[in-house]
Amino acid sequence: MAVSTATLPARIRHRFPIFDRRVYINSCSQGALSDAVREAYGRYLADWDEHGAPWEYWVEQLEGARRSVAGLLNAAEDEVAITTSVSAGVSAIASALRFQNGRDKVVVSDFEFPTIGQIWHAQERRGARVVHVPAEPGATIPLERFEAAIDEQTALVAVTHVCFRNGSRIDVKGVAELAHGRGALVFLDAYQAVGSIPIEARALDCDFLAAGALKYLLGSAGLGFLYCRHELAEKIEPTATGWFADRDIFEMDIHDYSPAASARRFEAGTPPIPAIYAGIAGIELMREIGIEETEAHVRELNGQLIAGLDELGARVATPHAPENRGALVCVASTDVERLVGALAEGGVVTSSRDDNLRISAHCYNTAEDVSTVLDLLARNRSLLRLD
Ligand SMILES: Cc1ncc(COP(=O)(O)O)c(C=O)c1O
Repeated sequence: MAVSTATLPARIRHRFPIFDRRVYINSCSQGALSDAVREAYGRYLADWDEHGAPWEYWVEQLEGARRSVAGLLNAAEDEVAITTSVSAGVSAIASALRFQNGRDKVVVSDFEFPTIGQIWHAQERRGARVVHVPAEPGATIPLERFEAAIDEQTALVAVTHVCFRNGSRIDVKGVAELAHGRGALVFLDAYQAVGSIPIEARALDCDFLAAGALKYLLGSAGLGFLYCRHELAEKIEPTATGWFADRDIFEMDIHDYSPAASARRFEAGTPPIPAIYAGIAGIELMREIGIEETEAHVRELNGQLIAGLDELGARVATPHAPENRGALVCVASTDVERLVGALAEGGVVTSSRDDNLRISAHCYNTAEDVSTVLDLLARNRSLLRLD
């Protein structure tokens, strides 16, 4: 498809008022607030006034979110659970695993978000053995490292698509092939990828995929989702559950546990209705803007950014090869708090993890934004770790 990357920010930037005041280049933390998401919150309040809060109506909203997420991932609606966070989705799946019959090992990449490592280590109380796959110095984890860790005793492999610490992108399909070859399940944390690169859950060949609406999907806090491959949903039974996971939410039966036949069985309690309004608006806006076009646009911006960083002699903590990174680019700093502060003083919003400055462009960022960032970094070169 021929993409007109030059027109992308111009077409949509006016819908994100923050750009009147600042250069916002921090979508790895949270997407910028759009007119559509602001309007969705207004609609939530208006509907509350109009309808009260009957739960038939909540269920309708919940199903709307499921439809949006299914469309986003090109998955079937019965493969999607709407959750309140990535953590909730991971916990539901962890609670369904039994770590028996010689399959007690969980393989976790060293690029995982804390919640992933912590939840899998919590399963050690239930008999799981957790083994980490270490990264190489260039912020990559080669497939051979996964190959060495995954064996016939592995129940599940947890991988993250794009690492929140360094922006490194994992070869998910390669890991899935290895894991499935040895009879293990694959859980993908796609939070730093959804909305910034097109994702087809089935094409990636993972069994589970969790993410949320907060970052490149332009939604707000409180809405997560979990994809579970169709053939699996009915076979695994979570013990972390709740009434919205029941076969019939309206049955109100307290005498048994009869989970839904679909991925809805991984849901729990009252859905996060305000976040669902915002999340649907964000996801639909992102789909309208075009995720494929966004990916191409951000790749161009990041090419410009990395070339500028190289010129400054900065140590780029993200792999240089475009296929090994996502939207996030990280730069090593000698005092990252001060560097984030210096950028903020110059009107640029970024964030940090470890000693790295995180710069994460999205559909609304321009080449001028990247130049502004590079100018400020040049002026604060003493705060950069140099190569
Ligand atoms: C890769 C990744 N996974 C998970 C999370 C958090 O997930 P949760 O929705 O459980 O807070 C984040 C960021 O907040 C993240 O960057």
